[in-house]
Amino acid sequence: MKKVLLAASVAVALSVSAGAADFVLKFSHVVSENTPKGKAAVFFEKRLEELSKGKIDVQVYPSSQLYKDKAVLKAIRLDSVQMACPSFSKFGKFVPNLALFDLPFLFKDIDQLHRVQDSDVGQKLKDMVTAKGYVALDFWDNAFKQFTSSKHALISPTDAKGQKFRIMSSKVLEAQFKAVDANPQMMPFSEVYSALQQGVIDGQENTNSNIYTKKFYEVSKYMTVSNHGYLGYLVVMSKKFWNSLPADLQANVKQAMKEATAKEREWAVELDQSQFAEIKKYADETKKLEITVLTPEQRDAWRKVMSTIYPKFYDDKVIGKDLIEAAINTK
Ligand code: LMR
Repeated sequence: MKKVLLAASVAVALSVSAGAADFVLKFSHVVSENTPKGKAAVFFEKRLEELSKGKIDVQVYPSSQLYKDKAVLKAIRLDSVQMACPSFSKFGKFVPNLALFDLPFLFKDIDQLHRVQDSDVGQKLKDMVTAKGYVALDFWDNAFKQFTSSKHALISPTDAKGQKFRIMSSKVLEAQFKAVDANPQMMPFSEVYSALQQGVIDGQENTNSNIYTKKFYEVSKYMTVSNHGYLGYLVVMSKKFWNSLPADLQANVKQAMKEATAKEREWAVELDQSQFAEIKKYADETKKLEITVLTPEQRDAWRKVMSTIYPKFYDDKVIGKDLIEAAINTK
């Protein structure tokens, strides 16, 4: 059995490397390989090549090698790249409503957030993406976000006053930082490290995984474990590519995706913990980074100020009151 499997995977590898695949699927993303998205993309690549018996050659391009942030969504529409997994705010121009998931302090925990994604709310948002000419596949997780700064520690919301924070291109994140009198600056993910290093920005918000794998902790003096907002993704595919696949290969894509999504959710939890442990180890050993874990009372002070922005997004053209309330009311 093992030998047969081995022979089969060698055959797949050979047919792929010999350029014998019928379809080439390029998957572009901006994060490192050792992240939930990066690992799941590689898992998807292997699994789909296996299931399709090498008929689909999947090529994953991590770390903005192919496209930066929002640019990938245009490229997918042109079928210049076939698959991507942008974070919600990067859909801003096409489907701003996905920014529901960016609203600070909206979700109780990751399980409740998954229930929202698996409900009519999630389906409605995917339908909006489909209507814009994409194939909307699954939601993928990263984790809740933390703050870093080099100016001073962020413990009370007033500590953010006047500090320049990098944000993704997002009206929600802009409003979130303005609510604490900070100065938000939109910038692609690939430019954050050097902007922190050169002091172009004072701080940023991201998950433990992105802070660790892109080494933002090395160019920050303070980190606050705030879990104030969520960072997640929607996997999308080019409609032209999808329509070009015969039914059996479409079924293989769906199967590989289903398995990748299950793994992705597990890796998201594991990496959030293990990569935070690595950052903490660096902080303990070098004393170059001071980490503060907010107490429930301190966190509540941030929640009070930042959640005042919700009504700004009640209009359907931005997010929609119905979606925000449905998310809040999801048990
Ligand atoms: C960011 O721009 O900070 C994130 O969206 C990067 C990512 O894809 O996790």
